[in-house]
Amino acid sequence: MSKINLSSKIFVDGADPEETRETKRLLGFVDGQTTNPTLVSKNPAARERIEKREKFTREEIYHFYKEVVNKIAKITQGPISVEVYADSETKAEQMLEEAREMQNWIDNAYIKFPITKEGLKAAHFAVKEGIPINMTLCFSQEQAAAVYAATLGAKKPIFVSPFVGRLDDRGENGMELVFNIIRMYQIGDGHVLPLTASVRNLEHLLYAIQIGSPLITVPFKVIKEWAENGFVLPDEKFNYQPNLKPIDYKEIALDKNWQDYDPSHDLTDIGVEKFSRDWKNLIR
Ligand code: E4P
Repeated sequence: MSKINLSSKIFVDGADPEETRETKRLLGFVDGQTTNPTLVSKNPAARERIEKREKFTREEIYHFYKEVVNKIAKITQGPISVEVYADSETKAEQMLEEAREMQNWIDNAYIKFPITKEGLKAAHFAVKEGIPINMTLCFSQEQAAAVYAATLGAKKPIFVSPFVGRLDDRGENGMELVFNIIRMYQIGDGHVLPLTASVRNLEHLLYAIQIGSPLITVPFKVIKEWAENGFVLPDEKFNYQPNLKPIDYKEIALDKNWQDYDPSHDLTDIGVEKFSRDWKNLIR
């Protein structure tokens, strides 16, 4: 049974089914899960293999990822995000092909594409095929606007994942990006849901709850910290004011053609590169 009453949905951010199971035990529920290539590389069984210098073949690593996701699907019926491989050269059609394959892994798969020109193109066509998607590596309000425009007409809710911790890491108030996206989407039709990601601490989680982020993905470390704090919820005295550079709200129209938004962001490029590197490091 659920130990708390929330309007935000809580996902587990990780690729270790044991963590998902333990979260369910602690919280009483798990609303969904997000994975990514780096998290797969941190799965204990994957690490053990790499430490023994037994890297995977390309087929084996996909099989491994599929198994992990299937184990998680036995614990939560909520959306489970699975990320396609992408590097700076990957074309939309390649991402789409992988998405079609991954969508068949489990009934509740959400496919992650990066918010790049090619990733947006892949999303635009994936939506037409009814593939549920989570647009990842979001670092700007304009990227979130592009996601909105590229996925209009989607039959299932689309997720967009602003990466809070990585903005904080370079001195910018990442939670403000989430706040701004929620505000911007108020004029929209509600087909895209912000999913607060790259959560690093309890304050991020509590503030995301306070501002009504519809979805929040939380690493197990922070879930444990939350449990240790009796699943505290933000009250009117909770005031999130980190010593970080503000990210100002921008007036951005949501009704432009999706190709007319500028989705470029250096942190997205860095993120794509890191996911690609971590994935390739698993393969011999
Ligand atoms: C989840 O979807 C994201 O991939 C994850 O939250 C990224 O977290 P990190 O910035 O700590 O790697």
